[in-house]
Amino acid sequence: MRVNLTEAMQLLQQGEVVAIPTETVYGLAADATNDAALKKIFATKQRPADHPLIVHIHDISQVEDWVKVFPATAIQLAQTFWPGALTLVLPAKEHVSLVVRGNEPTIALRIPDHPMTLALLKLGKLSLAAPSANLFTQLSPTTAAHVEGGLGQHIPVLDGGACQVGIESTIVSIKANGQWQLLRPGMISEQAIISVIGEPENADLNAQSSNAALPKVPGQHLLHYSPRTPLSLFHDKYALNKGYLLREAAHKTCAAMLIGEGPAPAGSTVIRLPADPDLVAEQLYSVLHQLDNLQVNELLVELPPDLPEWMAVRDRLNRAGYQLPI
Ligand code: TXA
Ligand code: MG
Repeated sequence: MRVNLTEAMQLLQQGEVVAIPTETVYGLAADATNDAALKKIFATKQRPADHPLIVHIHDISQVEDWVKVFPATAIQLAQTFWPGALTLVLPAKEHVSLVVRGNEPTIALRIPDHPMTLALLKLGKLSLAAPSANLFTQLSPTTAAHVEGGLGQHIPVLDGGACQVGIESTIVSIKANGQWQLLRPGMISEQAIISVIGEPENADLNAQSSNAALPKVPGQHLLHYSPRTPLSLFHDKYALNKGYLLREAAHKTCAAMLIGEGPAPAGSTVIRLPADPDLVAEQLYSVLHQLDNLQVNELLVELPPDLPEWMAVRDRLNRAGYQLPI
């Protein structure tokens, strides 16, 4: 059900959930200070209660309402990247709802870069908790139609067009002492963050792949962002074409997503994306939604190369896949 800005604002103020546009993906929003409203998010998404939510604000001065300390490194990142696709996880003030932070001692905050949602936050005098507006573990939505397809036509949706970034924000956790760690890669790259505030904590330990250095990331399941159709990943077009022939011989129907030039499997539906990380991120969920709707037996997807600029796209694809890449 599409709603306009005023209707969205009224529903949110009354403690209802509304799907809202952001530049990354659509979020399922509720008043971040109303526990009953927050519980509706978890119920609608069928999301476990220990998966914390991101709180969306519209002005950097609001950070102080939520956090105990706002270290200089966090201020620098906020000033550089907000409004934008960066979420900061910071030590929470005692009064911050345990529902919104999934019982964590920290709270996740971001200022989204979408004019409609910024207007909603400002005019409604609201702070909105919003996870992606999809059922738990399923594909994230980048259009109003995706939200309705996944959560049902009864969900109120503020239609702000197709999302421009297309995959979820980069998440950075910052301790009171200013040290930081990357919790989820996104289109604001780790390198871009390093260029503003320097190297992350335990960079050396990470290089030695010590488990002790791995950050705790509640809600980052290995199987996530998945279409309903089984999805197999391939390192290149050669492996993908070979995989397709085997499946064709076994009378299985397939559809494929390829990146850049090169041979495509003849006889199957193929969507080819240009070899550009920003364009692939923007289209990724839309293409996967489209391929999923074909109701074939299996989706065959080419992984982009293991290079820093493809880190976020590879992260989402690796989570969408049901088996290790071939
Ligand atoms: O781009 C985005 O970030 C979108 C839009 C709607 O803003 N939101 C989004 O929310 O992707 P969601 O719930 O699908 O993912 C949020 C993730 C959680 O799964 C969890 O890993 C992390 O954020 N998170 C939230 N609060 C946290 C906390 N206090 N500590 C650590 N991780 C946290
Ligand atoms: Mg999500």
